[in-house]
Amino acid sequence: MKISTMAVIMAMTDEAKPFIEALELKKLACGLGDALPMEVYTGSVEGANLIVVVGGKDQRFGVDNVATQPATLSAYLAIEQFKPDLLINAGTAGGFKAKGAEIGDVYIGSGAIRFHDRRIPIPGFDGYGVGSYKTPDVDKVAEVLGLKKGVVSTGNSLDMTPEDQRMIEANQGAVKEMEAAAIAWVAELYDIPLVALKAITDLVDTDTPTQDEFMQNLKFASERLQKKLTDAVHCFAGEGIA
Ligand code: ADE
Repeated sequence: MKISTMAVIMAMTDEAKPFIEALELKKLACGLGDALPMEVYTGSVEGANLIVVVGGKDQRFGVDNVATQPATLSAYLAIEQFKPDLLINAGTAGGFKAKGAEIGDVYIGSGAIRFHDRRIPIPGFDGYGVGSYKTPDVDKVAEVLGLKKGVVSTGNSLDMTPEDQRMIEANQGAVKEMEAAAIAWVAELYDIPLVALKAITDLVDTDTPTQDEFMQNLKFASERLQKKLTDAVHCFAGEGIA
């Protein structure tokens, strides 16, 4: 499928900055609407329009709008406003040492994107809670760009409770983050393919406190993300998506 408009949804300014600067994207003054904190940047890659939506800051807490609610809103408004034919959710994530992850690795979501903290043990609602949104076939782009592949597992917390861990294992999750499944739900409603690209800031199955490892590696991982995301948008603009 040929791509004419790609929308990249990113939660944190620090994650997005290297990419926005590298591609010299221009900020849209109107964003996604007057009442909304999201920031919008535009540019073009090999003839395709490129839109980047960044979550912006919470008006009371002054921190980045991370996790599922802003991600859902960003995805919905980006789709309605820019009619993208490809969505990309790019950001940082926790990885698993036991699964071979290293800090700075960039994963592409493969197989499925699932929730690990929507536990609803009632028939039908249990599957709805996990979501299991399909990903496009990313084997070729993973190979060409040197990306690791894995199931992305989404929750609304940075830490990992034993119950989260159990669900991530059941999900076969390789990447733990806070936005992709929320965006995948919107993408599925509109039948738009979603690619998740996640750079590892922390290893959640080690003794190092996640928040410390995350803060320590955010800049490094965001730079790694920028390189792979730049390659990916060129690849999708040039070759489309299966
Ligand atoms: N983003 C970066 N690291 C993360 C983690 N360990 N859990 C959820 N989101 C993350």
